[in-house]
Order: sequence, then structure tokens, then C-alpha cells
Amino acid sequence: MRRRTESGECCEAPGVMESSTTNPHKVYEKAETFWSRCSQDEVGMLGGTAVLQVPDVTGSVNFLNVLKRDKIVTNFENALDCGAGIGRVTKHVLMPFFKTVDLVDLVEELLATSAEYIGTDDGIGEKFVEGLQTFEPPKRKYDLIWIQWVSGQLTDQDLTSYLERCIEGLAPNGTIVIKESVSCGGKTLYHDTDGCWTRPESLILKLAENAGLKLIHKTVQTGFPKGLYAVKMIALKPVHPVEEDDD
Ligand SMILES: C[S@@+](CC[C@H](N)C(=O)[O-])C[C@H]1O[C@@H](n2cnc3c(N)ncnc32)[C@H](O)[C@@H]1O
Repeated sequence: MRRRTESGECCEAPGVMESSTTNPHKVYEKAETFWSRCSQDEVGMLGGTAVLQVPDVTGSVNFLNVLKRDKIVTNFENALDCGAGIGRVTKHVLMPFFKTVDLVDLVEELLATSAEYIGTDDGIGEKFVEGLQTFEPPKRKYDLIWIQWVSGQLTDQDLTSYLERCIEGLAPNGTIVIKESVSCGGKTLYHDTDGCWTRPESLILKLAENAGLKLIHKTVQTGFPKGLYAVKMIALKPVHPVEEDDD
């Protein structure tokens, strides 16, 4: 998520460790406690920094428009918003493009709030209350799986396994987008407050590659205040494409 760095330029943020030796189950419990107590609005979803909303949405919509223009994303039936929270990304980024958007989040109360926040059921599909560490997306369903500010909540191993299951969830020519804060200097930093890791981009790409994904397009988010980690948008596709007549 969007944390402030100490220097404003690099990744030595206060209160973080280079890695965690903590038991993953305890980390997931910590995350659930943290997110179930956060404010159920845009500010809560943005880690208290409301000023990020406009540039974040603009950056994501521009990124999706490039994916559309370059025929990377070609079908606009079903999308999945991972770590959807109250549905901020669903409402402002995915619904304008996709016929139906499904949401998945660990915290039931946040998904419950999404009905009011989004303001319509039209275009909303299923809402799954589950941690991504165990969630299995429905098979061959999604033209786009969007994973924003939640990949850092999973251990390296669970993120790789989740991406493997996401591949199974892709429709033919489907795409996965990871939008995430990244550290620099090659270090992964653990944030104890919400049980979350900030990884270097190279590690995110390595874990994606381990899952069977290849990089298609990436860009850096612009327009954020100085002093935050860089945020990258990364479009990935399976190395072995999902075929039309696979089943
Ligand atoms: C920083 S917020 C981002 C919300 C949304 N992606 C956005 O950008 O507005 C992180 C979200 O991830 C959810 N989350 C945290 N750990 C999770 C996990 N293991 N599985 C699924 N969701 C999780 C939280 O409940 C919260 O809604």
C-alpha cells in the first residue's frame, strides 16, 4: 500500500523490517484485524491519503486504455477486483470498462459497504469473502484480474500460488494486472502494523514468472505526492495461453 518513505526517495521507511520471520498465519490474522478496523471509505482504502484518489484512478484508467488500444485486453465481459475493499477500484476503474465485476476481499464488512459505496448492483457480479491466500477464482471466467495494493499482504509463496490460481481463472486472452507499491535497493520490507510486505519490482516479476506469467506492459504511476514508495502497474499474461477450445 501507499506508505511514506523516510527519505522521500528510497525505501528505508520507519517501523519496518527487512523481512519477517513471523508465522504467516499470524500475519494474516494481523491483516484481518487491521483492515476490519480501518475506515470504510476511500480514505481508509488509501491508507489515510485521500489526495491519491484522483491520480490513482486516472493512472489506472489510462493504463487500461493503453491495454485496450494495444489489443492486450480484447474482451470486456468479466473482471475480478482482488482485495477490493469497499469497491473503490471496481467503481471507478473496472465498471466503466467491464460488463460484470466480481469482488474478493478478506473482510466481510468492507464488501458489505461496497453496495452503498458503488451505489448500483448493475454490473456487480459475485462478492467473495475470502483471503487471497486460499481463494480460488472461478475457472476460465475473467478477461481481467486486477490486484491492487493487496499483493503485499501475501507471503512470497502464497502470492505465487495465488497467481497460479488466477491463471486458471482467466478466460482466453485474459490478463492479470498487479498495481503495487515497490521498494528500491532490492530489499523486501515488512510492515508490522498491517502485516504487509513492500517488495522490489524485480521480486514481484520473479514471483509472477514462477507462477507462469510473462510481462506484457508496465508503467509507473505519476502524480502522487513526493515521499511515497513508487507505484507500478504491471500487465501479465500466461506463458502458456488459455486456449479457446481448452475444455
Ligand atoms: C490498501 S486496501 C486496498 C483496497 C483496494 N484494492 C483499493 O485500492 O482501493 C487493502 C485491501 O486488501 C484487503 N486484504 C488484506 N489482506 C488480504 C488478503 N489476504 N486477502 C484478500 N484481501 C485482503 C483489505 O481488507 C483491504 O480491503
